[in-house]
Amino acid sequence: MPLTQTSPPSSLPADEIANAVALLRRGELVGIPTETVYGLGADAENDAATARIFEVKGRPTNHPLIVHLAHGSSLDGWVNRIPDVAVELAKRFWPGPLTMILPRGERSHLAVTGGQDTVAIRVPSHPIAQQLLRAFGGGIAAPSANRFGSVSPTTAQHVRADLGEDVSCVLDGGACSVGIESTIVDLSRARPILLRPGSVSREQLSVVLGHELEAHEKDLEVRAPGQIESHYAPKARVEIVERRELAARLEAARAHGERSAVLDASGEAESVDDIARSLYEKLRQADLDGMNRVLVILPTDEGTGLAIRDRLTRAAGPRKI
Ligand code: TXA
Ligand code: MG
Repeated sequence: MPLTQTSPPSSLPADEIANAVALLRRGELVGIPTETVYGLGADAENDAATARIFEVKGRPTNHPLIVHLAHGSSLDGWVNRIPDVAVELAKRFWPGPLTMILPRGERSHLAVTGGQDTVAIRVPSHPIAQQLLRAFGGGIAAPSANRFGSVSPTTAQHVRADLGEDVSCVLDGGACSVGIESTIVDLSRARPILLRPGSVSREQLSVVLGHELEAHEKDLEVRAPGQIESHYAPKARVEIVERRELAARLEAARAHGERSAVLDASGEAESVDDIARSLYEKLRQADLDGMNRVLVILPTDEGTGLAIRDRLTRAAGPRKI
């Protein structure tokens, strides 16, 4: 499958950034490149602007947003307590694809945290995200820039295709280098908990924490049919298969007049990090190609494999109509 492999720009012209900053200050939404996926950004301290994010995404208002901050900026005001372990994790993984859940400070409005007393904070490494955050000066609240429940965008074109006129401007930072959403660790409780696996792996986090990181029971929900709504899903039905069943499954689908794409995410042919980078592009491509099904082979849960398993298992999950 052809992937645009242009090396991403490391900065945008000052006037383009100034324009995006002006839009944010006026309470409008801006599409923002990050190393993980594109975000739909708004001024985190403007409640009308963040309300617009939920409206455009079609997302329930109790689903909290991540606040993005410039590298080196102070967390004061955004969080009201910084556990030692957060300092250690920030030193090791920021800027980068790690989000930390921390006790909320007054600058993190309830409109952003979904009414919770904790806030998700991330310092992205994408140079254009950093350029924008520095110029803006405040926090940018941003979920992935897709409609609720669908596949996250990894190029500026994906954002425009999904959100069209609903987003005032999309900064083009090229294709995302990580390709799947950030790792989320909850540090607001007695023990750190992995809420969403990502390319900062459980193993890497465990090294810094000095103990094995626990995962959230959310993982168990995935296995309880009917409990979760499908996330990260293309229109085509995603089905998890074993390699040895593949030929028979393809043949059965063909016999029913159905078209199937195969997504080999096993990690046997390419690294799991390469698979993550092109994962959403491939799911989107299956829809563009008019596929009825995507048959996927999962990797092991080592490193980024755990995150790939998570996203694909959810994509294959039961769908709420
Ligand atoms: O890589 C990423 O994290 C991307 C880029 C744009 O930064 N953003 C992203 O946002 O994936 P979103 O909104 O699609 O996912 C944010 C996740 C949601 O699952 C939300 O429930 C969780 O973060 N979250 C946010 N605040 C939280 C909180 N206070 N407690 C628990 N979970 C929280
Ligand atoms: Mg999302």
